[in-house]
Amino acid sequence: MNSPGSFYLPAASSTMAPEVDALLQFIVVASSILFAIVVFGSFYFAVRYRRRKGSTFTDGKDHNVRLEIVWTVIPSILAFIVFFWGFNSYLKMNIAPANAIEVKTTAQKWFWQFTYANGAGSTNELVVPVGVPVKLLMSSKDVIHSFYVPNFRMKMDVLPNRYSLTWFEATQTGEYDLFCTEFCGTGHSSMLGKIKVVSDTEFRDFLNAGSALGTGQAPEAFGADLYKSKACFTCHTTDGTPGTGPTFKGVFSRSEAMSDGSTQLVDENYIRESILNPQAKIVSGFQPVMPTYQGIINNTEIDALVAYLKSLNTGQ
Ligand code: CUA
Repeated sequence: MNSPGSFYLPAASSTMAPEVDALLQFIVVASSILFAIVVFGSFYFAVRYRRRKGSTFTDGKDHNVRLEIVWTVIPSILAFIVFFWGFNSYLKMNIAPANAIEVKTTAQKWFWQFTYANGAGSTNELVVPVGVPVKLLMSSKDVIHSFYVPNFRMKMDVLPNRYSLTWFEATQTGEYDLFCTEFCGTGHSSMLGKIKVVSDTEFRDFLNAGSALGTGQAPEAFGADLYKSKACFTCHTTDGTPGTGPTFKGVFSRSEAMSDGSTQLVDENYIRESILNPQAKIVSGFQPVMPTYQGIINNTEIDALVAYLKSLNTGQ
């Protein structure tokens, strides 16, 4: 069940939360100890060596190498611990497990829109199964927003012209608050949502209901239509043979050699860039002849094309 948490922190309800809390605890305790030493030390020495009647300045010791090494090395070690601990957690938060389910998250003034792989959708309420990693592929339709769920200790900016990725795995069922934490205009403070963590069966029911409501085509089916209607097929095949441009078969998450000698991982952002600004990076062996689709294609359509390209990898 959903435990209320404490005055200090909200309940920890994701797999990452205990790790984030442990690091916070470490920083708080280490800082408190250092604070106490510096502040009480200053007071003690100020009193102990105050100027007394008849006291004279002496040419006493003003330097102690051993002491200086100690108070340099110990805080440095603490800083290194905090850095590597934090960096390690940061990497874990940014790399979603392979079995994660993906939810397309779109922010706009002033609500959240969630789209699932089967085309089901919801507004301001992200329904997820408990104990399953959930990857959020996020973008904004207007300004910068930020996706913040205190119970999961997760926060990620949502940007208008590129995807940002994050993931979480909820450890207990219940409802959790979702806030926007980037000032995005007059409606910012009411840009609130809920994360509803449910059992596996409830989640499946939700998905089925969502697609039965006819919230739209599944994104990869829509993408397959766009592949034809936007004439992608004239240059890009889906059977592995190179055309004027590289084939789409197996292209997603492939490392491509570029004409400038660099290597590029084909991910969501690379596909987006290749559609809107095709001359930016050219795959080695091809000519820079693709026209830009800027103004011809919208974000929903780009999402659908990304989903379609992904589906070509699973061989359907
Ligand atoms: Cu969206 Cu603040």
